[in-house]
Amino acid sequence: MDVTPDSPTLDSSTATEPARSTTMDALIIRGGRRLSGRVEISGAKNAALPMMAATLLAPGVHTLRNVPLLSDTRTMARVLEVLGARVELRGHACKIDTSNLTSVEAPYDLVRTMRASIYVLGPLLARMGAARVSLPGGCAWGPRPVNLHLEGLAAMGAALELDHGYIVGREVRLAGADFTFETVSVGATAQLMMAATLAAGTTTLGNVAIEPDITALAVALNACGARIEGVGSRTLTIHGVKGLRPLDTTIIPDRIEGATFLAAAAVTGSSITLERCDSGHMGAAIRTLEQQGCEILAGNAEVTITGPRRPAAVDVTTEPFPGFPTDMQAQIMSVCAIADGVSVIRDTIYLDRFTHVPELVRLGADVRMDGNIATVTGVERLQGAPVMATDIRASAALVLAALVAEGETRISRIYHLDRGYESLDQKLLKLGASVERIQE
Ligand code: UD1
Repeated sequence: MDVTPDSPTLDSSTATEPARSTTMDALIIRGGRRLSGRVEISGAKNAALPMMAATLLAPGVHTLRNVPLLSDTRTMARVLEVLGARVELRGHACKIDTSNLTSVEAPYDLVRTMRASIYVLGPLLARMGAARVSLPGGCAWGPRPVNLHLEGLAAMGAALELDHGYIVGREVRLAGADFTFETVSVGATAQLMMAATLAAGTTTLGNVAIEPDITALAVALNACGARIEGVGSRTLTIHGVKGLRPLDTTIIPDRIEGATFLAAAAVTGSSITLERCDSGHMGAAIRTLEQQGCEILAGNAEVTITGPRRPAAVDVTTEPFPGFPTDMQAQIMSVCAIADGVSVIRDTIYLDRFTHVPELVRLGADVRMDGNIATVTGVERLQGAPVMATDIRASAALVLAALVAEGETRISRIYHLDRGYESLDQKLLKLGASVERIQE
């Protein structure tokens, strides 16, 4: 991947450049400071990753703007390069030339660092009729199956085999099919939607995810010749076409990053303004924070929040969009940790997604677990301590707790944070937090 700011051509000569290594970085946060000012929200990771994979569908030079600079987007760029694409990142603009694909294999070493690599499976089968994609393993919060991806592709005629840890398809000719998801799945919806755009005939997908990332992908694909109907509803009808034009699109704002900053204001009793966000995508988080006593003024692309002196307790259950996102469960727990009263937080999407709990407890939070239900009794103060990041959103939760904890918190292993938040430390610093990145 060429990340030189002024590189003139689509040159992949630096393709093997590693993702920025932050393995040994830690954050030192001194809590207790109020935040103020304005913060710009980056493009959405969860919209950018499938969009990058979708460039495999059509040969040519694709243009993606507002791509967040994250280790996950760098990893996806490397996956595309391994397949023969040429990727050039200039600032937040990404050009991807998929004219000549030279391989159909997404290797284990890349897939294991980022499960979203599996998004290349459907596009490869659709365009090349073949794919060899490492089966992702489990993750820190459970097995995270991909059966719906595979069952849906099988319904479309892809006879896939498991070969030494790889999902393998050969001489596949995708055909339209009717497939209804037994569970709402963001990943499987994107996967099958991409595959169906080039399948022979019409595909009907039922019980699909309607996350903004999915809608944005459908809109972008339709703009280059796909025929996806029902966009934004629970049923998609996709008429396969012979070919697509290259994508030319702007990545939507990151609703999870935005909501994380709102939670930062809530936890510190601060007033800040988010710029370049989409308040319509953050409805559930905004309503929850309002219940906790935050005053929120939501315009279209700007949201101003004023946190209360102390947040109120609240009950939260994660659900598919437009419900409260599982990607905000950890961060809202940090707000509840210092809230006045007892909050109950249920994660119905990932039942084991609670690796942040023992770390929050180290900071003085009172959290009791019963299966997928956390009961959080708010305490008046948290205390700084050394803690460890375990995944993207768990890391963000620790940052939020550290912003309000007394004294110093050292958060290790923040490469997790760098996977999903662009310059979170720099953005918080600009808002007045005491945050320092050190090499351990
Ligand atoms: C999920 C979240 C997404 C979040 C992402 C990363 C939902 C609906 N999805 O997306 O918002 O950004 O995690 O944190 O909130 N499932 C299966 N079989 C499959 C695929 C999924 O059983 O083949 C199940 C999962 O175990 C889970 C549910 O379906 O319980 C939703 O999973 P899915 O939306 O596919 O996960 P992600 O795409 O990772």
